[in-house]
Amino acid sequence: MATTEAASHRLPKAELHVHVEGAAPPALVARLAERHGLDLEGVFDDQGRYRWEDFTGFLHAYDRAASVFRTPEDYAVLSETYLKEIAADGAIYAELTISPDHAAGAGLSYVDYVAGLAEGIGRARAETGIEARMIAVGVRHFGARAVEQVASQVIAAPHPLVTGFGLAGDEREGHPANFARAFRMAGEAGLGLTAHAGEVCGPESVTATLDFLRVQRIGHGVRAIEDPEVVRRLVEDEVVLEVCPGSNLALGLYERLRFHPVNLLRRSGCRITLNSDDPPFFHTSLAEEYESCATTFGWSGADMLDMTREAVRGAFCDPATRMRLMGRIEEHGNGES
Ligand code: ADE
Ligand code: ZN
Repeated sequence: MATTEAASHRLPKAELHVHVEGAAPPALVARLAERHGLDLEGVFDDQGRYRWEDFTGFLHAYDRAASVFRTPEDYAVLSETYLKEIAADGAIYAELTISPDHAAGAGLSYVDYVAGLAEGIGRARAETGIEARMIAVGVRHFGARAVEQVASQVIAAPHPLVTGFGLAGDEREGHPANFARAFRMAGEAGLGLTAHAGEVCGPESVTATLDFLRVQRIGHGVRAIEDPEVVRRLVEDEVVLEVCPGSNLALGLYERLRFHPVNLLRRSGCRITLNSDDPPFFHTSLAEEYESCATTFGWSGADMLDMTREAVRGAFCDPATRMRLMGRIEEHGNGES
């Protein structure tokens, strides 16, 4: 498909929701598996792409791919590779969702994990100018104690690039109330808060997340559209939605992009950002999300620039960085007019 003006590689882009392990190119995962002598039988299809069938299967494939990252340098290569790739498509900012539990499962401490990722972020920034921050998440189906432990690790070893705390994993397991303590700890430590909700489960999951976790942002949140009261609350509370249309299509939430509620949510006044979630697993990219939405919903270059502005406004970064990023967006806007 030809690239529209609204989403060309020159248009500044930003994303707030991409799982760093979920962004691992299959070729990198295969290379590391060989280097570390690990068996990945069944993870790839015969074309070398990730193989999974449903949400549970996806989470399992994700766990297995993540298990090949064993050293800080493995993680440095991962964050550097991903950020340079999206910078080439115009990205100026990204928040990487990081999962200390996955690193621990591969034998890496929280401190070494973050140091490796930060090294890669630094290299990508030096080469391309892209800014990035990290959001440490607990895995919901590992239980409340494990999520609290992630919050404790983040608070005990503050890192200037770890600016947020979140909740990922299987939304069908564990009521948000179970995680209230972890989110209270993280919030009191000054971290930005976000949680996956309204992806696999319906609008009641969004409501419970807002009630118990006091998040500023919601990962996905798209199923809020099923309850106008919930949409009204998102608008009123100015909650930022980290919308990942390609992920939702791949997981079968919606059959076609034109049936996806992102446009309706936007027209209802919700704060919308576009994100890639786990790009190679879902055969998408940040540029593809911009491109397909521009084409399907007739969003103009100005609309797409608004999406990037909303991401920067909702970013868990310091005010000086936010101002610099806004400056880059406005520079582009002025150049186009
Ligand atoms: N972890 C990685 N991707 C995820 C998703 N889309 N939903 C929940 N947890 C995840
Ligand atoms: Zn996600």
